[in-house]
Amino acid sequence: MMERMEPFASTLDLQTGVMNPASQVLRRYLSGMSDLYADSSAAQRILAEEGVRLIYEVYVVDVPEAEGQVLHSTTIIYPGRIGQEFHMTKGHFHVKRDRAEIYLGLAGTGALLLQTDDGIVRSVEMRRGAVAYVPPLWAHRTVNTGDAPFAFFAAWPGDAGHDYASIEQQGFAKLLVSQDGRAVLIDNPRAR
Ligand code: PA5
Ligand code: NI
Repeated sequence: MMERMEPFASTLDLQTGVMNPASQVLRRYLSGMSDLYADSSAAQRILAEEGVRLIYEVYVVDVPEAEGQVLHSTTIIYPGRIGQEFHMTKGHFHVKRDRAEIYLGLAGTGALLLQTDDGIVRSVEMRRGAVAYVPPLWAHRTVNTGDAPFAFFAAWPGDAGHDYASIEQQGFAKLLVSQDGRAVLIDNPRAR
């Protein structure tokens, strides 16, 4: 039997994406995800020169990770590039592959990159007010393609789970890179 919870609200700053209260704020640094970027020498150079580079933050609301619940969070990806590749999230499949997700763009500009198990890739533009649907079966990663922080809200089923290992191993078949001042989707030279 499901335990009854008290209703509650969090406050979301619609300009910045900061959520309050948040049970956790996850901070992802380049040092913990440098292998995900195609240009590993650019990543090593930045680490040597800057020491620490914050790529993104996730504000997680305190909801049990269980069937029937709706987990929700906001993500803020800071602007920047590793070589030509824009700052991005690690990306994941849901452990339960048939669980979907909704993203709502709040600030800045970016893209939602999606990939199937057999390597089909799609890209959806994200900006304030864009409501993006991540259907079941698609891995998803977000990318900041602009010069300002890119923030979005996400909601997904409580029993979905995050599978990061598959993306760490296989990578995304496409990359979002800056070319002549534009965001361009290219083939990943390191795709496995
Ligand atoms: O549930 C989601 O898909 C998002 O809240 C992501 O977890 C968030 O954007 C961070 O990305 P990742 O989990 O791939 O590090
Ligand atoms: Ni997800």
